Amino acid sequence: MSPTINRDRLLSEIQALASISEADPPVVTRIVFTPSDLKARTWMKACCEEAGLKVREDAIGNTFARWNGSDPAAPVVGTGSHIDAIPNAGKYDGVVGVLGGLEAIRALQQSGFRPKHSIELLIFTSEEPTRFGIGCLGSRLLSGTLSPDSARHLKDNDGATVDEVRRKAGFSGELDDVKLPGNYYKAFVELHIEQGPLLERQQTPLGIVTEIAAPASLRILIEGSGGHAGGVLMPDRRDALCAAAELILAIESAARNSGAIDTVATVGICDVFPGAVNSIPSRVRLSVDIRDTNLQRRDEVIRAIGATCDAIAATRQVSVHSKLLNADAPADCAPAIIEALSQSCRKHGLNFLPMVSRAYHDSLFMARIAPVAMLFIPCRNGYSHRPDEYASPEDIFRGTIVLAETLAALSA
Ligand code: GLV
Ligand code: MN
Ligand code: MN
Repeated sequence: MSPTINRDRLLSEIQALASISEADPPVVTRIVFTPSDLKARTWMKACCEEAGLKVREDAIGNTFARWNGSDPAAPVVGTGSHIDAIPNAGKYDGVVGVLGGLEAIRALQQSGFRPKHSIELLIFTSEEPTRFGIGCLGSRLLSGTLSPDSARHLKDNDGATVDEVRRKAGFSGELDDVKLPGNYYKAFVELHIEQGPLLERQQTPLGIVTEIAAPASLRILIEGSGGHAGGVLMPDRRDALCAAAELILAIESAARNSGAIDTVATVGICDVFPGAVNSIPSRVRLSVDIRDTNLQRRDEVIRAIGATCDAIAATRQVSVHSKLLNADAPADCAPAIIEALSQSCRKHGLNFLPMVSRAYHDSLFMARIAPVAMLFIPCRNGYSHRPDEYASPEDIFRGTIVLAETLAALSA
């Protein structure tokens, strides 16, 4: 069995999906349950159906496209990723795992291979946290990491709840039915761009993920006192943005001073109210993303941020309210899937790097209910979450072939 990838089809599908976007090319923006996300979903389902896969969707919009095995009752071998994209993104994050996964399945079909275990392509809802503040909404619900009740009440920036938004998008089932039983998957394997520079720097075509780092995020609201930029004298000020500036730098220091290169912290959102040049900022909302491969170290940074919030509130006479949105544990990848991926690499004489995923992925949550592993391909300069994100066709094809062979080995 030697699967052959249809290279032109895969590249043209990546291009076609990139064109379904809220922004002009090369920018891709596709926020969950917006018209572009819904259009992309419809397009993806048609591609899956054309490949003879049986498509179903759950109440949060996770999409499953199944190639039935000869033993339909046997646990499933899954692959897939996400197609939502943050504002100002590129065209490969998530998409390589979805369209590469579909192409891997089609290549196996073409090769004459017939799986014993069904093979399922999964397109997860809202891997990106853009709309509801936490990432991996679909896989958190599938794995039972997030309760339906907590999910139901998450709100977007316009105050609309997950329940309202998903129903309007046509997903009206019960969120309680989303969670999958623990024995549903035999294995889950996700192909993804690295989103970092190591593979390219080490001129290694593939990375096999052994561990996924532990992400956490905070939303911080700082309230001071507004007023006239000319009239209020400096000793009387309680400027929320100045307090935020101090806090942002303290967050950076907390990560830098952890003593480990694996600790990272980012303030990605700073909303200033009222946002007028001649008005003292009275309110600032920050979103903070903290990650580490080591849970204790990550939590130590969260504690340090909390202490700094209290100190700044006292010295600057502002109120600082911090809410922990998520603090997830890291996940280990499954040795048996790592071995199946390694075997395929060795067969093709391809070097690979065992590596940690510093980005989070739906696999982090799938690891709660299934053995998982991930396969990384290089991306230019390590760029991701920006429009010039790029993965070369050769790297995409290599990843897709190794994925196809791994799915075959796991589902035989
Ligand atoms: C996923 O998109 C991440 O932020 O790691
Ligand atoms: Mn992403
Ligand atoms: Mn991704």
